[in-house]
Amino acid sequence: MKYIVGNWKMNGLTAEAQALAGELKSNIRENAARKVVVCPPAPVLPMVQGALKGAPIFLGGQDCHYAEKGAYTGDISAAMLADAGCRYVIVGHSERRVGHGENDALVSRKAEAAGKAGLTPIICIGETLAEREAGKTLEILMRQAFQSVPKSLNEEIIIAYEPVWAIGTGKTATEGEIEETQGAVRQAFLRERGLEQSRLSVLYGGSVKAGNAGAILALPSVGGVLVGGASLIAEEFCAIAAAVN
Ligand code: PGA
Repeated sequence: MKYIVGNWKMNGLTAEAQALAGELKSNIRENAARKVVVCPPAPVLPMVQGALKGAPIFLGGQDCHYAEKGAYTGDISAAMLADAGCRYVIVGHSERRVGHGENDALVSRKAEAAGKAGLTPIICIGETLAEREAGKTLEILMRQAFQSVPKSLNEEIIIAYEPVWAIGTGKTATEGEIEETQGAVRQAFLRERGLEQSRLSVLYGGSVKAGNAGAILALPSVGGVLVGGASLIAEEFCAIAAAVN
């Protein structure tokens, strides 16, 4: 089973979100080989949930706070996302790590809060171009994976590998780079935690589109894709979902 996850980021006013959700509902059919998830901005979650009713598409949040509730102005708890119909939540996206100074310890607390609220966190890791050029890719990814994924997560674990230099740039890692990098992280993580293969999905993200999704999804270490820009175009996202076979 492969995950096809759409991260709408900070895009989607009511009318656009409604139109996009409507098109996804009309075009995405049940298929046991994949799980489709969309992560719209929080204000439109209830509307998107209504628009997708009956479709084989799950909802996810884009971030959550580590606390259950309280005086955290502007933040959203995992329980609030679950209450709005979410089953998943992205945590530790590089746009949060870089733009909001989030570190592994915080990401781990968020992932733990997600698990407690009954959500499955999609925990993002990824190296910058400077780190890759300095030959530090695996060191960075292992550190992020080991420190951002809480040991208390006792069900399914989803890690999304998104090279920072591939996000929104049109540059994708080559299939060889993805397989080599993800394969190494996957094996090291399974070994370190003593987990069975089936407990862990490692998704790839970074300029995934209809044209490259099939080849990426066919890689053995790839448990799915996390799609940003192309998830805002119904035709592209549906074609990516259709690339699972
Ligand atoms: P992109 O974004 O597909 O636009 O590169 C991916 C992501 O940031 O999740």
